[in-house]
Formats: sequence, structure tokens, C-alpha cells
Amino acid sequence: MNIQEIIAKKRDKLELNKEEIEYFVTNYTNGTISDYQAAALVMAIYINDMNEEETTNLTLAMAHSGDILDLSELGTVVDKHSTGGIGDKVTLILAPIIASFNIPVAKMSGRGLGYTGGTIDKLESIPGYRTNLTIEEFIQNVKKNGISVIGQTLNLAPADKKLYALRDVISATESIPLISSSIMSKKIASGANKIVLDVTCGSGAFMKNIKDAENLASMMKKIGNLANKETVCVITNMEEPLGKAVGNSLEVIEAVEFLKGNMEQDVKEVILELGSYMIKLAGKGQNIEENKQKILENIQNGKAFEKLKKWVSSQGGNISFLENTQNFKKAKYIIPVLAKKSGYVNSLNAQKVGEISMNLGAGRIKKEDIILPEVGIILEKKIGSSVQKGETLAYIHANNEELAKTQAQNLKMVYEIQEKKPELKKNILKVIS
Ligand code: URA
Repeated sequence: MNIQEIIAKKRDKLELNKEEIEYFVTNYTNGTISDYQAAALVMAIYINDMNEEETTNLTLAMAHSGDILDLSELGTVVDKHSTGGIGDKVTLILAPIIASFNIPVAKMSGRGLGYTGGTIDKLESIPGYRTNLTIEEFIQNVKKNGISVIGQTLNLAPADKKLYALRDVISATESIPLISSSIMSKKIASGANKIVLDVTCGSGAFMKNIKDAENLASMMKKIGNLANKETVCVITNMEEPLGKAVGNSLEVIEAVEFLKGNMEQDVKEVILELGSYMIKLAGKGQNIEENKQKILENIQNGKAFEKLKKWVSSQGGNISFLENTQNFKKAKYIIPVLAKKSGYVNSLNAQKVGEISMNLGAGRIKKEDIILPEVGIILEKKIGSSVQKGETLAYIHANNEELAKTQAQNLKMVYEIQEKKPELKKNILKVIS
């Protein structure tokens, strides 16, 4: 067997067998197969797709490319993962909420991918926060505080770590087999028993329409069941960015505000839905509507915010930034984007907002780019908002004046304003439980 033959098979739209997939994953992980050969195969998969059996075999091979964590001593661990979005600060909010119910949170998160943001980049905007704990520290933190969130630094699904970074720079992100195997290999390796997946759908998601989102959800659910992990998929709207903030420390600030009770409606609906299913899977409440009330209580009584502080401080983060978010370093230039006419915001393409945020330095254009934690966008107006000509639609936070001006101009073009109030889409599109 050799990699050229495997690439040629997929290039010619043929099915890869288990041995070929395992050969690729093992030898790419150990460095025998080069990045350019892997890139060719990944692009062939992207273009010619994989069937269910190939996707399952790819997932299992990636999950077994490193260690498989055994978290059985922690009881039922319910994990959550998103297929990616713009302004998606859900993990920052949901992880401490879930831990506040004494449900252990042991989570491995990712960095930004393409135009979407990543939880690890956001967490690293908190000065001191360490995403690279050892396995012992990780488990110890979960035992002691009920929560730990780390990057992909342990030897868990190392094949995904390499493939994820590769896909990011060769524009091979929007693919059902590649996303399913990436997410589910990490979930299998990181040892959770139950999984809630936030499958995003819309302009800022990798799945642009509901049919593709349903197919992705059903693929991941099948893999979850096969691996004996009960999996619930919630399909959520990502037609426009989630909440107001896009950018790393800006999103941390919005998450802190949320846990202090200042909740944006769309973020609130997504948090309550995902959180309620996590509580249900953990066996701590069968009734979804009652679970939503319990979550709101733990926000109002401050338990969830206390958990956030405990979590961040146990990983070295300076919690004075959470207690007073004014402490976060601000971008050098904060400039408004003004409406060119009056009416209602009809569309706010999330992918384009994500790309503007990436251009400002909140994401990586090249693998080695360094993230600027303080830059990004605050959206004052969202789809359905009424606006007057000259009113502020959004603020650009940038460290370079020229860039701030050009990106403000770009963002102005992304806002589509019409006379008629548009019909609003639901935030929760479907639950597959
Ligand atoms: N999140 C992941 O972990 N992988 C993907 O491919 C997309 C989102």
C-alpha cells in the first residue's frame, strides 16, 4: 500500500477501505506522509465525499491515533461541541453553567478554523490562562472544581490536530466527512459518555442550508451511537453572528456579561436549549422547560459566574479581568460604522463579518499568524433592527487606523438595509434527540 495509490483512488471517486484509511491516518500522524500528500487526499475527500462507512472508519482511526482518556472515575461526563460559527461564545458561557449543577465538564476545545472563531483563542485572551495542562492537571481540575477546558495539547486525536490545521489553510473546511470525523474523533478520545452537538446552519456556518446541517447531524449521531455515546444534535441559526461581539477578548467580555445576567436574546435561546439537553443527558432533569428555568436560576443567583472564576483561576487566568472587564486591553482605534440609509436590517452575512474580523487580526489568515486578542467587531444592530440614516450599526476595534477604516467600509457593505421589516428566523431550527 502507498499513499499515491490511496490519493488516486479518492481522486477517481472510489471508496477507500478500512486498511487504507488507517494507513493514511497512522502515517500522516507520525510524519511519514507529508503535508502536501495529505493535502491532496483531503482535497480529494472534500471534492468526492465519503460514504458512511468510510467516514466512520476515518473517525475511529483518528480517535485511536493517540491516547483515549478514561474519565469513568468522574461519573457521567456530558460534552458539548459546535460545528463552528461567528461570535460563538457558547462554550465560555455553557461550561460554567453546566459545572454549576455539579455535572463534570472536561472539555477539549479548538482554535479558529477558517472564518470561524475558536474557544481556545478566546480563552487565551484572558491574561495567564493556560490551555496546555498535563493530563494529570486536567483531571485534577475536573475533580477539584468540576471543570477544565484545554486545547488539543495532550496526545488526544493528534491526527485531527494536524488535519484541522491543514484543512484550515487549504480551504477544505466545509465537508461533512471531514467535520464529522474531526469532531467525533475528539469526542471519542476525550472520554465523555454523552455528547450534545451544536450544528450551526447559515451564512456563517460550514453548513449553509438546513438539509446539509441535517445530514451532518445525522452522520455525527450515527458515529456517536456506534461509539456507545448518546448524542443529541441541536441545529442552530448562524445566518448572522451570534450575540453582539465578534473577536476574542470582546467575546469573553460578552460571555462575562451574560453570566452576570445581561443576556442577548439569540445567545440566551441557544444556551438554554443546549444546556437543557446537557442536563437531561447527565440525568439531572428530564424536563427540558424546567431545565431552562434551572439554568436561569443559576445565572441569577451568581453560581454560574462563580464557577467561571474558579475555572479560570485554576488554569492560571487573572480573574480581575472577569470581575472588571474594563481591565481588558482595548484596541487602539474604535470607530463606528454608520448607516447609509434608514430602514430595517434585512441581512448581515455572518461569514463576511467573520472574514472582516479575521482581517482585523482576530483570526489567522496563515497558520503562523498571531492573534490580536483585543480586535474585532461589536454589532449594535442585527437582522430586524430598525435604523436611521447616520445611526451607528457597529463598532470596529482595530490596532491599525487604515485597516480600521477599510474594514469599517467593508462592514457597511455587509449590512443590507430595506424599508420592510424582515421576517425573523428562529434561533433553534431543529433538535435531533
Ligand atoms: N469543529 C471541529 O472540531 N472540527 C471541524 O471540522 C469543524 C468544527
